[in-house]
Amino acid sequence: NAVVLLGPPGAGKGTVAEVLVDKGYRHVSTGDLLREQIRLETPLGLEAKQLMDQGKFVPDDVVVGMIRDLLSSRAAESNYLFDGFPRTLVQAEKLDELLGSLNGTLEEVVLLECPDDVIVERLSGRRTCSKCGSVYHVKFNPASNEDLCDIEGCELTQRPDDNAETIRKRLVVYAEQTAPLITYYEAKGLVHPIDATQRIDQVRAAVLEKLG
Ligand code: AP5
Ligand code: ZN
Repeated sequence: NAVVLLGPPGAGKGTVAEVLVDKGYRHVSTGDLLREQIRLETPLGLEAKQLMDQGKFVPDDVVVGMIRDLLSSRAAESNYLFDGFPRTLVQAEKLDELLGSLNGTLEEVVLLECPDDVIVERLSGRRTCSKCGSVYHVKFNPASNEDLCDIEGCELTQRPDDNAETIRKRLVVYAEQTAPLITYYEAKGLVHPIDATQRIDQVRAAVLEKLG
């Protein structure tokens, strides 16, 4: 079975996912999967990097292929938490098909609602550990030792797509291509909106309450 975390870039999907993993969900972030391909310098990664650095989407068939491979290799596992997928109507329909063929169901869509000005501030101040993937914020969730990761002690970096210009582009792409999914899932009665402008602990608690 599966839960989808839906919401604009920077609404806090990855941050919320961290606590759901502790509850036994298997976190599947297509952004993380793609960045792993970039790190490994695979052909898929090289193609994806061009698009991601410009704030554009990677083609549906590429992303759906990754999810199909992942689900088929781990069909027995139960609770998937999709983060950053689906992002288009085509991907949403494919996810329904894939889950259907595994006799799984999409149980909830948690919608993190957050206005653009808050998002710009969050993404501009985000710092990520390139080694373990831990996510920080210079103001809202700082590492204990300035720009060093609490877990690995290595230097924190800024994602190449977290500059003001690319953030604006990602917001436009979200509004055009991903926001229509809200109506798609509302028609199925699956959407649970959460006010994502609250503090991190409050947003996490609200999501845990919905899924608990
Ligand atoms: P992806 O990696 O999925 O990025 P995204 O959706 O843009 O989301 P982010 O990871 O930027 O934000 P988030 O919501 O997880 O926020 P976070 O928790 O980090 O995708 C990147 C790219 O890959 C796409 O642009 C596309 O090119 C491609 N791609 C991926 N999936 C695809 C797909 N399915 N189809 C096609 N292309 C695809 O939080 C953000 C910051 O805010 C952090 O610093 C955090 O500490 C802070 N923060 C979080 N919550 C709070 C809070 N409540 N209060 C204060 N600060 C907070
Ligand atoms: Zn780290």
